[in-house]
Amino acid sequence: MRKNIVAGNWKMNTNISEGITLAKKVNDLITEKNCDIIIAPPLTHISEIQKVIDEKKIFISSQNCASTQNGAYTGEISAQMLKSMSVNYSIIGHSERRDYFKESNIDVKEKVTIAIKNNITPIFCCGEDLTQRERNNHFNVIENQIKESLFDLSAIDFSKIIIAYEPIWAIGTGKTASADQAQEIHKFIRTIVASKYNVDLADNLSILYGGSCKPSNAKELFAKEDIDGGLIGGASLNAEDFVAIINAF
Ligand code: PGA
Repeated sequence: MRKNIVAGNWKMNTNISEGITLAKKVNDLITEKNCDIIIAPPLTHISEIQKVIDEKKIFISSQNCASTQNGAYTGEISAQMLKSMSVNYSIIGHSERRDYFKESNIDVKEKVTIAIKNNITPIFCCGEDLTQRERNNHFNVIENQIKESLFDLSAIDFSKIIIAYEPIWAIGTGKTASADQAQEIHKFIRTIVASKYNVDLADNLSILYGGSCKPSNAKELFAKEDIDGGLIGGASLNAEDFVAIINAF
């Protein structure tokens, strides 16, 4: 059975005291756990946040990890370091990292591989930009991202990942993909995974939608057959909104 998941990507927001307050508020507002809940705060906040949340209720993710195990890579944080802080998830290949930090599908592949090697669950992000969608090239783009970054994984390793479909034109823009548009891509992803691996593995894969997901649209999105939750940016910075999205299941 695949899991329903709501993950909050805080990006580069909040100072440490704001982050602690936000995490505590989210923790206190969650009464029922009808899905897995993950937050990805800035790395600097994680140790303090772990003290104020129930880690059986809220899991912690990083927003990135290095593509190498350790060594002379100034400024980088390795999967091994994250694991040693009890971080069990890592967002990998977010479109902002692909765009601003020029991460290629191959860089993303290395990060996914090293995360899995260190027992960290990758939340692998894929998605097209507006021009690619307008040219009707979005299926190709997404298939390529998945093929180049993930299809060298063994079936066992592939079964450890979460995929997030995030159309770039919907991120932070207030423009959500319609539930039908998102469902179409989620189903497509499941189909290509089934043909590369097998139907069981594809059925058990959690595929999250991300891009202006908010309390007002979460219910409709999550009701779709192939949408197993959300990767939430802006709305995860407001505890009430984030928990309302969780409660949309
Ligand atoms: P958004 O961001 O919810 O603010 O659109 C989603 C994301 O980038 O993960």
